[in-house]
Amino acid sequence: MPRSQPTAPRDAVHHPVFARFYARFSVAADERAGVGAHREELLAGVSGRVIEIGAGNGLNFPHYPSAVSEVVAIEPEGTLRALARRAARRAEVPVDVVPGAAEALPVKSEAFDVVVASLVLCSVRDLPRSLREVRRVLRPGGELRFFEHVLAPTRGMARTQRALDRTVWPWLFGGCHTARDTLAAIEAAGLELGAHRRLRVPERGLQVPSSPCVLGIARKPFAAPD
Ligand SMILES: C[S@@+](CC[C@H](N)C(=O)[O-])C[C@H]1O[C@@H](n2cnc3c(N)ncnc32)[C@H](O)[C@@H]1O
Repeated sequence: MPRSQPTAPRDAVHHPVFARFYARFSVAADERAGVGAHREELLAGVSGRVIEIGAGNGLNFPHYPSAVSEVVAIEPEGTLRALARRAARRAEVPVDVVPGAAEALPVKSEAFDVVVASLVLCSVRDLPRSLREVRRVLRPGGELRFFEHVLAPTRGMARTQRALDRTVWPWLFGGCHTARDTLAAIEAAGLELGAHRRLRVPERGLQVPSSPCVLGIARKPFAAPD
């Protein structure tokens, strides 16, 4: 007889304190820092089968257009996943919230028209591997829609971001990093950058290390380059 009962597998991400903080902060940021409007822009014109990576508490769900047939929302953190499930019940398109991590998406290859990543590529453990997974699950010609905070274009802020990433920032904010060059990583994964823009969140007022952002589209090519 085993001496102890088998335990349920732990979630891939376990940040209960950050999760409770984010559940409150994100709602305020959507309203007061204009993040809700960026979510609307991120998802405008999206259609078909969608997979959202690291859906958090589900704040993107109300912004999916009716042309979306299904959203598979991956969320590894238990507290946020429970909140996302609640948000999914209120959504106007079908949303299925499931556990999993960006580095090993629990879905078939080439099964999705669109992958959505908002404020998550800063937090995944392995960015190149996660983006290879994005490429794997997209059909040829499918889109990655991204809204991410990234490495600042100015030297001073970039230096601050790198120092914070080596010290307190990931520890305080659920594994988040501020100095990731996400656009370069998207291209390195073999996705073609389409229309995108740099923005700051919040647009005016005090700038913080997570203020420099990018929002846009990248596509999986129809054929692999020779
Ligand atoms: C700042 S929150 C953003 C949540 C949501 N995408 C949004 O736009 O509000 C970061 C999210 O990434 C998730 N996350 C962290 N590591 C992850 C991983 N390896 N794979 C997928 N999601 C991850 C966290 O659990 C959390 O939900």
